[in-house]
Amino acid sequence: MYNDNPTIKGLNKTIEIDRQGEVFFQETAAPGNKYFYIESYGCQMNFSDSEIVGSILSEVGYQPTRNMEESDLILINTCSIREKAEDTVRKRLRIFDKVKQQRPGTLVGVLGCMAERLKAKLLDQEKLVDLVIGPDAYRDLPKLLATAEDGDKGINVFLSREETYADISPLRLGSNGVTAFISIMRGCDNMCSFCVVPFTRGRERSRDPFSIVAEATDLFNKGYREVTLLGQNVDSFKWINPETEEKVNFAHLLEMVAKVAPDLRVRFSTSHPKDITDEVLHTIARYENICNYIHLPVQSGNSRILELMNRTYDRDWYIERVKSIYNIIPNCAISSDIITGFCSETEKEHQDTLSMIEFANYSMSYMFFYSERPGTVAAKKYEDDISLEVKKRRLAEVIRLQNQISYKSNQADIGKTFKVLIEGDSKKSDQEYKGRNSQNKMIVFPKQEGLKPGDYVYVKISEASSATLRGLISEPALQTIQ
Ligand code: SAH
Ligand code: SF4
Ligand code: F3S
Repeated sequence: MYNDNPTIKGLNKTIEIDRQGEVFFQETAAPGNKYFYIESYGCQMNFSDSEIVGSILSEVGYQPTRNMEESDLILINTCSIREKAEDTVRKRLRIFDKVKQQRPGTLVGVLGCMAERLKAKLLDQEKLVDLVIGPDAYRDLPKLLATAEDGDKGINVFLSREETYADISPLRLGSNGVTAFISIMRGCDNMCSFCVVPFTRGRERSRDPFSIVAEATDLFNKGYREVTLLGQNVDSFKWINPETEEKVNFAHLLEMVAKVAPDLRVRFSTSHPKDITDEVLHTIARYENICNYIHLPVQSGNSRILELMNRTYDRDWYIERVKSIYNIIPNCAISSDIITGFCSETEKEHQDTLSMIEFANYSMSYMFFYSERPGTVAAKKYEDDISLEVKKRRLAEVIRLQNQISYKSNQADIGKTFKVLIEGDSKKSDQEYKGRNSQNKMIVFPKQEGLKPGDYVYVKISEASSATLRGLISEPALQTIQ
């Protein structure tokens, strides 16, 4: 989910837009057309934003390409969450510089959280950059492009209280045609002391739920079978109908999207432990197509550290939420985000995080060591006093334990049969399909004639590692939905 690595999450081929708005591939760049190349880093919100950017650019005659050497515009959608994420971006800018030297006139733009955090400073630090655009300013892209084409620098980093890009139909970049993200809100009003997001993404705002349902319906009609509703804290989704004054909360929204079609799976991320309600849990339990999977980042298992982090819940509160989830949705998988070595964390407090991993029985976790971010409350108030060596050792312990728990949880699935949505060929073989079960576990199985991505199948698990389940389509009752 979080991508600090320099993998290129772009497109495989040059693509064009057909009449229905679907994307199909074209092998070579057509003369006379303008091409943009985009790389995305960070969270799913950034990948989703790149698709909004793609849509805005396609309106002004740009088409996406995976080949940066033939592009007229190179964009990098950046993340500031940890120092390493920003280092990665700077390394990529060195590579773009080489392309620019070979192809003068190519424009380079920095989008997203690093653009917002550093603003005009980025233009001073990185001479090759022509455009700096924050997450709420993408509508301004065509105007800023014109400025940059005239040889000036284009910058807009204004944060908005209203912008949700509700009316923009995202250009599905690098899509498998089966699963898609839908942004349901932007920004974050929680001030977790370690976190840069409130500064880079601004105030929290929820998108018109009817535009969300319309996007989900459109995706379903185009053959998509799974949507993931995205926000930094989806449980605080709140929208008031200006005409009727009717309130729509996250549980209502989930239900509205689940009703689009029984064959459209609904996922969501991220849930905040302080805000996830029993109403949400009961809604998940009521609808077969709302997946039994909750990403519920704990960050630390210790109440004193949670208080310093300003997470606004303590260990007992989190434990109670986990118990409610397993009570109301017995087959639910829970995953987490964990930070090791936060300011002043003792060995004993670190042990509380380890015991929480065991208690919550996470199916998987995203695990990081603490990286101080300039401007955050923690940077201003607390000393970053845990040595890198200790942070890394604690992280290794957390990873080791999580791998053991994931392995055990996957081993326990051997012999069970799951309904799997086929997403495409497995990484290793075109003789195998991969797909996920409701609990978000990846399952690999041999192909069978007549099946295609977007179909549901029942797979009986026969093997399990800590990351993947393997199995066979269950016989004789092969069931494809539809
Ligand atoms: N909104 C989500 C998290 C978004 S950021 C939530 O509240 O859970 C993704 C993850 O990055 C966080 O959950 C946290 O584990 C990690 N993270 C954020 N700031 C960090 C920092 N300064 N150092 C290390 N990890 C950090
Ligand atoms: Fe950051 Fe906390 Fe907001 Fe998540 S909830 S984005 S960790 S401030
Ligand atoms: Fe990174 Fe911004 Fe997401 S800092 S994690 S890209 S909101």
